[in-house]
Amino acid sequence: MSSTIESLQSEERFFSAPSQFTNSAYIQDASFYSKASTDRLKFWADRASELKWSKKWNTVLTWERPFASWFEGGELNASVNCLDVHMETHRKHKAAIIWEGENGEVRTYTYTQLHREVCKFAYQLKHTFKVSKGDRVTLYMPMIPELAIAVLACARIGAVHSVVFGGFSAKSLKDRLLDSESKVLITADGGFRRGSSILLKDIVDEALAQRDTLVQSVIVVKHTQNDIGWIQGRDADYATIMANSKQQTEAEAMQSEDILFILYTSGTTGKPKGIIHTTGGYMTHAKYSAKAVFDLKDEDVYFCTADIGWITGHTYLVYGPLSNGATCLMYEGAPDYPNKDRFWELVEKHQVSILYTAPTAIRAFMKWGDAYPKAHDLSSLRLLGTVGEPINPEAWMWYYEHIGGKRCPIVDTWWQTETGGIMISNLVGIQDMKPGSAGLPLPGISAQVLDDTGDVVTEGGGLLSITEPWPSMLRGVWGDPQRFEDVYWSEFSTYFAGDGATVDKDGYFKILGRVDDVLNVAGHRIGTMEVESALVAYSDVAEAAVVGVVDEIKGQAIVAYVILKEGIEKTDSLKTRLFSHVSVEIGAIARPKLIVFTADLPKTRSGKIMRRILKAIANGEPVGDTTTLANPGIVEVLVGT
Ligand code: WT7
Repeated sequence: MSSTIESLQSEERFFSAPSQFTNSAYIQDASFYSKASTDRLKFWADRASELKWSKKWNTVLTWERPFASWFEGGELNASVNCLDVHMETHRKHKAAIIWEGENGEVRTYTYTQLHREVCKFAYQLKHTFKVSKGDRVTLYMPMIPELAIAVLACARIGAVHSVVFGGFSAKSLKDRLLDSESKVLITADGGFRRGSSILLKDIVDEALAQRDTLVQSVIVVKHTQNDIGWIQGRDADYATIMANSKQQTEAEAMQSEDILFILYTSGTTGKPKGIIHTTGGYMTHAKYSAKAVFDLKDEDVYFCTADIGWITGHTYLVYGPLSNGATCLMYEGAPDYPNKDRFWELVEKHQVSILYTAPTAIRAFMKWGDAYPKAHDLSSLRLLGTVGEPINPEAWMWYYEHIGGKRCPIVDTWWQTETGGIMISNLVGIQDMKPGSAGLPLPGISAQVLDDTGDVVTEGGGLLSITEPWPSMLRGVWGDPQRFEDVYWSEFSTYFAGDGATVDKDGYFKILGRVDDVLNVAGHRIGTMEVESALVAYSDVAEAAVVGVVDEIKGQAIVAYVILKEGIEKTDSLKTRLFSHVSVEIGAIARPKLIVFTADLPKTRSGKIMRRILKAIANGEPVGDTTTLANPGIVEVLVGT
């Protein structure tokens, strides 16, 4: 790890939200920050009080590093907080989810209707499929309303949901089913993507073919209507079971620290981590941060473009906005289908006022050109957000000018699967924005930049750390408590996020990206080890090393250096087979951009692959010192490839 991390871009531009925005923002008073820092626990208790608890907590926080317990003694249910709480209010018949399919079909669920569907499905899970509190249920679905319904139905009966992104392969799905020991799997026949259907049920059948998971039942939503295999006794049709279902109106009273969900994410080893989130703390931060950061109001139509298979979809498409009684737009398909103006068409048609998307999407829009947004009336927009990776100032400016019409403030929100909710983002009702900088930690959150020895850097670069426990922090790694301590708590005495960052004289944080062996490809985390293990599992491959290269649209792309076994020919057809092998093993998101066959890899005398050198070579940068290498000659060879 380098001792000094420098940011080469210096950004001096400041932007303020227009007075129209600041005068009506929820948070206009900077004393919100000092209140939070003066009595942090009272601040969080006040936020928690905004939820409905069936039993109030006794203790706000019990902290025995790294184990936190928030709101002990309290009882609540997450689905009640997203649905039932609105039933007695003016929101009863308000749209909760406006869903648009890729083919243009629109379905709207009011809070009452969503509540009914969730209660019916919860009844089925509990009584027909015998899912009890604490059981894990895996969801492998396209972006259809039934996915949100299934998430909330699990929460209602206290089942732990594990949503697996629909782009993952049969192998990845199976690994996650085995690890979570799920006995029920909810899926669909398929999902639409760029006009064709992704055959999810086929992938499910493949994942379950060897019958080595614990899955007993597969509930299938028929969405694309393509032909699918059917195993009697195992497979159940969603529409049939819902047709005459009763409603599970009674919700399980969950202890604050009962698990709400697990969500798998990549780390530095080959095995994904099941990140654990619990109920009371997670819901507290989800509700508070959604309202504070997005300034969510009753009149808003809020569009989060993330898939529910990622944490962004969990917190800011389901739990955060619904607990605030917001109207959410949910879109099934690709941003460029049927044309490259699909998002702008959606914004105009549904009068979207808040848009939350990823820098990789913004860079693609930039490349496609201004004509697409220009062709639409985007005047309903009032706030824009980004998440997932650093946003370069050029993309920020383009978003600001061409989508926000220089009228909409932008929130650049830094957080992680592990943090559960947004940690660093300006509250644009009170702070100016600097392009490329996420800004200040939210009130209630304490972040610092630390140097290699753990000392605080007051101005400059280093490693990002969260220095006080927060309610929505991960509670562990499913089935691997040691990994939780090793990965997050062994570097410093405080939480180590794995990102490099700088902090400037105004206290603004700028996130520079991962400092570990984790890549960020189009806002998705991929462990280099995962891709390397997949490559090495292929019979012709002896060894592989994977690094990230700068990519104009995706932020990073994957380059794989591969040593083949003796006698194997270096052919293009083998490269093609390796590309698809990685897609099959992990999913298309992990497919390398380039594979380089090589006879050797730069290694230290102890045999460790020097990825730093490979990374420099792949990016066309100076390789620096190679004297510690056992085989310095390979560097020249690789530079020439
Ligand atoms: C990693 C977490 C948080 C939801 C989406 C990704 C990077 C996230 C930003 C941002 C710079 C960011 C970090 C982080 N990241 N947001 N605003 N600026 N980098 O969740 O898959 O858990 O990935 O995404 O590197 O560690 P995730």
